[in-house]
Amino acid sequence: MQIIHSAKDMHSLSKLLRVSDKSIGFVPTMGALHEGHLSLVRRSKEENEITVVSIFVNPAQFGPNEDFEKYPRHREKDLAMLSSVEVDTVFMPEREEMCGKDETTSVDIGALGNILCGVARPGHFNGVATIVAKLFNIVSPDNAYFGQKDFQQCVIIKKMVTDLKCGVNVIMCPTVREADGLAMSSRNVYLTEPERKASAALYKALCHGREFILSKRPSAPSAVQDEIEKILKSEPLLNPEYIEMLKPENLEPTGKIELPVVICLAARIGKARLIDNILVKEEPSLPDDCAL
Ligand code: PAF
Repeated sequence: MQIIHSAKDMHSLSKLLRVSDKSIGFVPTMGALHEGHLSLVRRSKEENEITVVSIFVNPAQFGPNEDFEKYPRHREKDLAMLSSVEVDTVFMPEREEMCGKDETTSVDIGALGNILCGVARPGHFNGVATIVAKLFNIVSPDNAYFGQKDFQQCVIIKKMVTDLKCGVNVIMCPTVREADGLAMSSRNVYLTEPERKASAALYKALCHGREFILSKRPSAPSAVQDEIEKILKSEPLLNPEYIEMLKPENLEPTGKIELPVVICLAARIGKARLIDNILVKEEPSLPDDCAL
């Protein structure tokens, strides 16, 4: 496994791979890896000749009062995990190179960045889009893999790739969950034992929302929101932030529920802010990325 620190070296490698006609799969991460990340790597390895994983905790996507300093960082463990799944190249750039003080160009993804998580995290998605655009320029992947847990992020990256003609195929992969349904996330380490137990209610509530839509066929999103809220409120530690029903392809609100629909939610619990989502479609057996 090759570890590259400079953008120049990574650029040279991707050029070389392009000349030798090797397909490049790319998994961008902020480290603190878990099974969810490894599932993206495995998918990339299945579909590409070379897999590149980046590890970079991107300061531009953290708000001033967010957890940039405290964000979990364990490089040695991350590298051991990546080596165990036989990643070809790890790109670990320095902050100065990715977010230089004199850099003034950024990506503004517009209205999609101001809804859902963008309400509580202003500027977050422009920070994500800007760093992902830089990483795409450096790595030049054919395919890039993102987890469905960050549904809004997936839609935004797809939109950016379309608008900026990046020529990268963005693939959304299923959320990997703990045994009780909690979506895996690097931030789950912030949860205390009682908070960790209470957090299982998120997925339970989403599954109930999906069953409710499929069996009762309500037309008003508020009927489903009420059902979901009841389950979330049964856990006093959870503070729901939003419960929204949206069109999966562009995150537009559904006035009247028409399938497919994605239910997205966020809740605060202790020091953590958790997000999750579920797709509701007529054919639940279809892979989730069909919806995007
Ligand atoms: O999903 C993440 O870990 C980050 O938002 C990403 C895509 C690596 C950009 O920093």
